[in-house]
Amino acid sequence: MRGLFVTGTDTEIGKTVVAAALTAALAADGVAVGAFKPAVTGLDEEPDGDKPHDHELLAACAGMAPEDVAPYRFGPAVSPHLAAELAGEVIDAATLVAAARAAAGERGERVLIAEGVGGLLVPLTLDGVLVRDLVVALGLPLVVVARPGLGTINHTMLTIEAARGAGIDVRGVVLTPWPQEPTDMQRSNATTIEALSGVGVSTLARVPGFSVSELASAGATLPYDHWLS
Ligand SMILES: Nc1ncnc2c1ncn2[C@@H]1O[C@H](COP(=O)(O)OP(=O)(O)OP(=O)(O)O)[C@@H](O)[C@H]1O
Ligand SMILES: [Mg+2]
Repeated sequence: MRGLFVTGTDTEIGKTVVAAALTAALAADGVAVGAFKPAVTGLDEEPDGDKPHDHELLAACAGMAPEDVAPYRFGPAVSPHLAAELAGEVIDAATLVAAARAAAGERGERVLIAEGVGGLLVPLTLDGVLVRDLVVALGLPLVVVARPGLGTINHTMLTIEAARGAGIDVRGVVLTPWPQEPTDMQRSNATTIEALSGVGVSTLARVPGFSVSELASAGATLPYDHWLS
C-alpha cells in the first residue's frame, strides 16, 4: 500500500487540516487518492466554524462517501475504545485494515492518506490495539503534526521515538498553524527537531478556509512527493 499516515502529538493539533490538505493537493495533481480515518468520535458535537467533521472533510477532498473514509463513527468526544464500549460496539482491528485497504483500492491503485485518532499511543480497541499498531499493520510511513510553540520539541521527539521503536519510518514533521511572523523560539523549534531527529520539518500556514481548493493550495506547499518517494 502506498501512502502516508498522519499522526499528531495530541488531539486537536491539526491532523485533519494536514491530511485533508495532502488529499486535496494529490487529487488536484490528478493522483488517484483515498482517505481513511479508523474511527471518528465527537459526532454529537457541532463541528466548529466552517470545518466539517473529520471524515466529511477528508471525504470531500478524496471524492469519497464519508462512511467509506471512517468505518467506525461515534457520538461522544472520547477515545475510540471508550466510545465503542459506550455504544455497545467492538472495534475490530481486521475490519480497520480491510477498510483502509478498500479506501486504497482493490489493487492499491489509490495513494492512501490516513489520519490517526489523537496521538500514536491512543488505544483503538478494548484489548489494547493502539493507533501505532494500525500504522504497522498498514505498513505506511508516518507524518507527525505538531504545534509550533513551547513544548513541541518534547512532544514531537516522544512521538518520533515511539514510532521508531515500532519500526515505523517517520518521513516528516509539520508544524501548524505556522504564523506569518514566527518568533525566534518557533523557528528554533523547527531547526532543533530537525537536528535532534534527522526528520525534515515543514510548516503549514493557517488556511483561510476549509474548501477543497483552499486545502489543495495549502497542501501544495508540503513536500508530499518527497515523503511518498
Ligand atoms: N494550518 C491551519 N489552518 C487553519 N487551522 C488550523 C491549522 N492548523 C491547525 N488548525 C486548527 O487547529 C484545530 C485542530 O485542527 P484539526 O481538526 O485538524 O486537529 P486534529 O488533530 O485533526 O484533531 P482530532 O484529534 O480531533 O482529529 C482546528 O480548529 C483547526 O482549525
Ligand atoms: Mg482530526
